[in-house]
Amino acid sequence: MTSRWTPSSWRSLPAKHIPSDYPEPAAITAVEAELRRMPPLVFAGEARRLKSQLGEVAQGRAFLLQGGDCAESFKEFAADNIRDTFRLILQMAVVLTFAGGKPVVKVGRMAGQFAKPRSSPVEVKDGVELPSYRGDNINGMGFSAQERAPDPQRLLKAYGQSAATLNLLRAFATGGYADLHNVHRWNLGFVEHSPQGARYRELSNKISETLNFMDAIGVNSVSNPALHQVEFFTSHEALLLGYEEALTRVDSTSGDWYDTSAHLVWIGERTRQLDGAHINFCQGIKNPIGIKVGPTVEPDELIRLIDALNPQNEAGRLTLYGRFGSDKIEARLPALMATTKREGREVVWAIDPMHGNTLTASTGYKTRPFDRILAEVRSFIEIANAQGVHPGGVHLEMTGQNVTECTGGARALSDIDLGDRYHTHCDPRLNADQALELSFLIAEKLKVDRSAPSQAAE
Ligand code: PEP
Ligand code: CO
Repeated sequence: MTSRWTPSSWRSLPAKHIPSDYPEPAAITAVEAELRRMPPLVFAGEARRLKSQLGEVAQGRAFLLQGGDCAESFKEFAADNIRDTFRLILQMAVVLTFAGGKPVVKVGRMAGQFAKPRSSPVEVKDGVELPSYRGDNINGMGFSAQERAPDPQRLLKAYGQSAATLNLLRAFATGGYADLHNVHRWNLGFVEHSPQGARYRELSNKISETLNFMDAIGVNSVSNPALHQVEFFTSHEALLLGYEEALTRVDSTSGDWYDTSAHLVWIGERTRQLDGAHINFCQGIKNPIGIKVGPTVEPDELIRLIDALNPQNEAGRLTLYGRFGSDKIEARLPALMATTKREGREVVWAIDPMHGNTLTASTGYKTRPFDRILAEVRSFIEIANAQGVHPGGVHLEMTGQNVTECTGGARALSDIDLGDRYHTHCDPRLNADQALELSFLIAEKLKVDRSAPSQAAE
């Protein structure tokens, strides 16, 4: 990248998965101009704060928990849904903090996660071919020509929904809801009566006891505001670069460019071409950046990607999300981790155990078996420990709702059950029960592997 980078440099490069078929090209240009006048959604200082916390993760002193919908939608937009996913993240963070004894950096796949790359540009149903659904900020999910036509106005609606979501998240994070004294109340109704709910209750009793003790010696939410609020960050895939460009602003403090649509943005598995538009765009913004690392990435290619995105080798700038599949991770990850370690690249290694474990159920639904998700996380932790690398975090598709989209888990959801409450707009999500169960199992695994001697040579 040269010093001549601007937020629109990407426009002269090959760009995958960005719609070019807007019926009226002038209309998208007008919408982007309108977005450029909209207030930023996050501040550069907050993005720097997340970067420094991810720096702690890179150094092995913290753990990243990132999660939310595969695709946010206009239809599922409701205060209760936002609250439920937020409190699920709080619950999971409590479980992981308690087990790991390390701070958990909390990042939602929320307040902007709309656009989706699709495996095929078209969908065929009963002999009718239409453009694929690409996310609510581009077109509609209904199978009609009208719904599937890209509509620029959707970008403004998505911006508004992101702003409202972020506003509520900020209120929850700082207004008292996230006060650790409320730890019992975060147990969601339908989870409360499950084995996870009971386990969580036990844990929250212990935390309450500790808080009572601390209160008795004068440490409470008033004397120590850290107990009263949490830091919560937002993230989404930087896919639709016209939108990201419009929200990219110069920070008056540092003079640097920041994408103010979210604290962290990531580049997906399908758009990480070294000479492509998405890498170019992310090179110029100073936010913390993520990149998905799938089963085809070779070690030398990974180093080139890392160096393109993090030439200063700054800890916290770059998070790598492995997403191999439980059947491929053991063949692919060790060499990649060994290389980043040997070459001294300061990255966070995290795992996305969702996208390599998708299959079609006997009932026709796209699903993900809980056991495969768990198996990939376990392998990730084992491989990281064997390589002497910090298993830095997890990136999950999940919701606080009681959906039936992934099979398995303690309630043993089967292929037949998937039809009951299959609401996702794209990929299958863990429901709150499954996500909480997964966090207990991850916590156990982190604990066991931490106490086992590392097989690393040093
Ligand atoms: C996603 O995170 O929803 C996604 C599309 O992932 P990937 O780029 O890893 O396929
Ligand atoms: Co997805």
